[in-house]
Amino acid sequence: MTKIEKIVLSYSGGLDTSIILKWLQETYGCEVVTFTADLGQGEELEPARTKAEMSGVKDIRIVDLREEFVRDFVFPMLRANALYEGQYLLGSSIARPLIAKHLVGIAREVGADAVTHGATGKGNDQVRFELAVNALDPSLKVIAPWRQWNIRSRMQLLEYAEKHHIPVPSDKRGEAPFSIDANLLHTSTEGKILENPAEVAPDHVYQRTVDPLDAPDTPEIITIGFERGDPVSVNGKAMTPAALLTELNGLGGRHGIGRLDLVENRFIGMKSRGIYETPGRTILLAAHRGIESITLDHAAAHLKDEIMPRYAELIYNGFWFAPEREMLQALIDQSQAFVSGDVTLRLYKGSASVISRTSPCSLYSADLVTFEESAIAYDHHDAEGFIRLNGLRLRNWAARNGR
Ligand code: ARG
Repeated sequence: MTKIEKIVLSYSGGLDTSIILKWLQETYGCEVVTFTADLGQGEELEPARTKAEMSGVKDIRIVDLREEFVRDFVFPMLRANALYEGQYLLGSSIARPLIAKHLVGIAREVGADAVTHGATGKGNDQVRFELAVNALDPSLKVIAPWRQWNIRSRMQLLEYAEKHHIPVPSDKRGEAPFSIDANLLHTSTEGKILENPAEVAPDHVYQRTVDPLDAPDTPEIITIGFERGDPVSVNGKAMTPAALLTELNGLGGRHGIGRLDLVENRFIGMKSRGIYETPGRTILLAAHRGIESITLDHAAAHLKDEIMPRYAELIYNGFWFAPEREMLQALIDQSQAFVSGDVTLRLYKGSASVISRTSPCSLYSADLVTFEESAIAYDHHDAEGFIRLNGLRLRNWAARNGR
């Protein structure tokens, strides 16, 4: 077994990482530094400190990463309108490189020779953490307890906890909880009954959105301001990135916006079913597309849409810090130079619909498109030649086919 002097653990204070902490101390007999990130998961973080202290941890780091998360990770992704497999808003995927970045930073600061995480051996998150660490500091070892120990199921995990007097949390109904990953961007719920895609998800799975059927009968109208592709205000009030997303999460949650029941293809090879709640970013996606619709050039917009699935897949697969993701990001960011203005949306029973948009940099020309008489020089005869030439090969092709 590799010798390890000091290791930094990404520690939530929950059951899995508490067990990992114990296991690291027993298995490697090394010093463990814990790192707990506040990503807006909406949980008290002080209990993590108390638990780490009780386990004999000397160096405990609790860091508020909410602004960095939204500004440097969520917003760049929003500029691309990124969606994995057409639907998943990447709420867990985008948080991993940020956590890895700080794990690496702390490891360097305290002179640790390894980092570790609580992701299981079957999911995407292990890949994301480890690829990010590889890209940021190739000299660091990565320990993945879930792939090393002989605990193979949740049942065995609970037995280990009992044996070592680690408290086991239960949900409000006294049952073992779902596997949940939450942050400012989303809540993702997997496992238990959801593992059968034929089963309808029970209502108590949802944590931050109401059922659209129970949402208010009166629609709510909001305006989001954009500057160079990033949202900067809600209803005229300027906000920091994290404050803005928090505000939209509240609005979206009340109106039942951003629920998704999805079967997706994991990078590692299997299909999995999850329930996602992403209220704020669902509103932002509609709004961002709204402001782009009047400010982006036709071909620039289409090029962006072509590379989007590739870009989203890179994030999903854990290649945030890879050169090709950075190259695509440069292209996306450049496209946003004139993506500024205001978008008004109606929030109503699960939907966020754009109802108007304005921009000082708009390319939209009412004069050009109007059905009425227009002052702009547009010769209708040009359209005749345009169609004739585009139709040339089609007439040729159809004649050959004998139609
Ligand atoms: N399937 C999602 C992804 O790969 C979420 C994974 C974490 N969620 C969880 N409930 N454990 O991005």
